Amino acid sequence: MELRSPQEVASALKEMKMRGAPLIGVAAAYGLALTAYHSRAKTREDLLKELETSADLIRATRPTAVNLFWAVDRVLKRAYETVGDHEAVRRAVIEEANRMADEDVEVNKRIGRNGSKLLRDGDTVLTHCNAGSLATVDYGTALAVIRSAWEEGKRINVIADETRPKLQGARLTAYELMRDGVPVTLITDGMVGYVMAKGLVDKVIVGADRIVRDAVINKVGTYTVAVLAREHKVPFYVAAPRSTFDLEKNAEEVEIEMRSPEEVTHVGSVRIAPEGVKVLNPAFDITPISYVTAIICEDGVIYREEFENLLEERTA
Ligand code: MRU
Repeated sequence: MELRSPQEVASALKEMKMRGAPLIGVAAAYGLALTAYHSRAKTREDLLKELETSADLIRATRPTAVNLFWAVDRVLKRAYETVGDHEAVRRAVIEEANRMADEDVEVNKRIGRNGSKLLRDGDTVLTHCNAGSLATVDYGTALAVIRSAWEEGKRINVIADETRPKLQGARLTAYELMRDGVPVTLITDGMVGYVMAKGLVDKVIVGADRIVRDAVINKVGTYTVAVLAREHKVPFYVAAPRSTFDLEKNAEEVEIEMRSPEEVTHVGSVRIAPEGVKVLNPAFDITPISYVTAIICEDGVIYREEFENLLEERTA
């Protein structure tokens, strides 16, 4: 897919042609880079104004993954801090987007190395949605942990749930893992209880769209998996970069994206529900931090108690 303008980037984000929190972030940065690249501004002030307009357009695409806002703010900050004329600002914005893309891969590799220590040879890991290469620039977050353990020679099996309604688990996670040769079994979301009760899952690893003070916000269905993991004493890990942390906020302050009813009433273009049925379609849900065993980020593994201490230190 080639995107040539900030408008095209914004549409692709809204329509979820690109998705996944870290990828959304880097794509947002490139939306601003495209603005700078194509700009005909003759002054620094005019270029900054154009960047602000694009930033508003991109910020309005998807509300929940904090990486989008983090990325837009980071590029704008770089633009404002760059000393010099519009050409200097233009170069700086493009350079910042490129840097963010490179950093994403580096950070994901570190998440992978940190998290792989938690996996044992022979483990079966359940994952939800897609937190893989296709949700990032490359390597993934939750799938980085699985990839890294696999590359170290640990025989890992994965159970991927299909992740209704957009089917990221079936379409993307199953594809990515099969491509890498990692054994993967696909189940429907409603089968998570079955596999847990049968003792078929050793660990859960999911990604995150936003980690706030009291919760992890991730693809709808994550909370159900977390509750089942607790019930069956299965560790529940969240793998995400620091750019997904939003420690100034609590979950109730975050907008959960509501998407179109057609995503639920249809599978692809085929209607499966009766005409006129009432639909609720939140794209994300909220897993209280008390269900999280640990968060795996580029700086290491943060167990829940340490996370809570970290928050206390910030407020002290
Ligand atoms: O709506 P999406 O597909 O953009 O949401 C992505 C997710 O929720 C992923 O599961 C995820 O863990 C965050 S991206 C690594």
